[in-house]
Amino acid sequence: MKFHIMTLFPEMVESTLRTSILGRAAQNGIIDFEAVNIRDYSADLKHHKVDDYTYGGGAGMLMQAQPIYDCYKAIEEKISAKPRVIYVTPQGTVFNQALAADLAKVEDLVFLCGHYEGVDERVLEEIVTDYVSIGDYVLTGGELPAMVMIDAISRLVPGVLNNDESAMTESFGNGLLEYPQYSRPEEWMGKKVPPILLSGDHKKVDEWRLEQSIERTKERRPDLYEKWLIENPPKPEKKKRRRKKSATDTLESQTEFINIESQEKPETTND
Ligand code: ADE
Repeated sequence: MKFHIMTLFPEMVESTLRTSILGRAAQNGIIDFEAVNIRDYSADLKHHKVDDYTYGGGAGMLMQAQPIYDCYKAIEEKISAKPRVIYVTPQGTVFNQALAADLAKVEDLVFLCGHYEGVDERVLEEIVTDYVSIGDYVLTGGELPAMVMIDAISRLVPGVLNNDESAMTESFGNGLLEYPQYSRPEEWMGKKVPPILLSGDHKKVDEWRLEQSIERTKERRPDLYEKWLIENPPKPEKKKRRRKKSATDTLESQTEFINIESQEKPETTND
């Protein structure tokens, strides 16, 4: 998978993305990055200007359409299919794990990082497929949000993480936050590791972890918990077996074993 980042600060993007886990994955040829300098496509060969005043007045400068379009076209020429082009903007839909997973499936992904007061609308209409924000706050430019998204997407590309499983079990993989984890020593500052984790009973440990995940999500992210609950409704409790009817049983005693939680009403007769 290759990320193409249209930016005014290619060194910032390259140096960050070529560090740590993503850097290793790029060295191993699993993912690739190319930060393309929009300035290189400016029609102003002397000053490489890429911004200008806004029609209709107002403070601040706007990034012009032409250098961005030419920059995009240069990227597009090198790719076989038309790529998804993400404009990182606080006006976009908010990025999440599901979108990260969706974007991790494509071969080439293009990011447009804006600066100044924004970008001429016409080039956005022409090239952008997705408007995406990283949250309801405003940053000074699109590079950091683009890198946040690239990090979250890359780690879902098979082979980027050493342990494929870790991508599956942690927060959001199953719609829940991750359970608490502990390492040595068994006791630290008077706090003990929960005994179940030392029991060696994997089934019990899994059950405990799921419980903890549910509790933690309910407490810290009630919005996620509500969603999870809709997708994972509690199983109705099994009906308790009826006791064998004895000749002396009355109607009341026959129905007393029907589970109240299942909200079944006892059958009534007219006689
Ligand atoms: N550019 C500035 N702020 C942003 C945000 N919150 N998300 C994406 N891009 C941005």
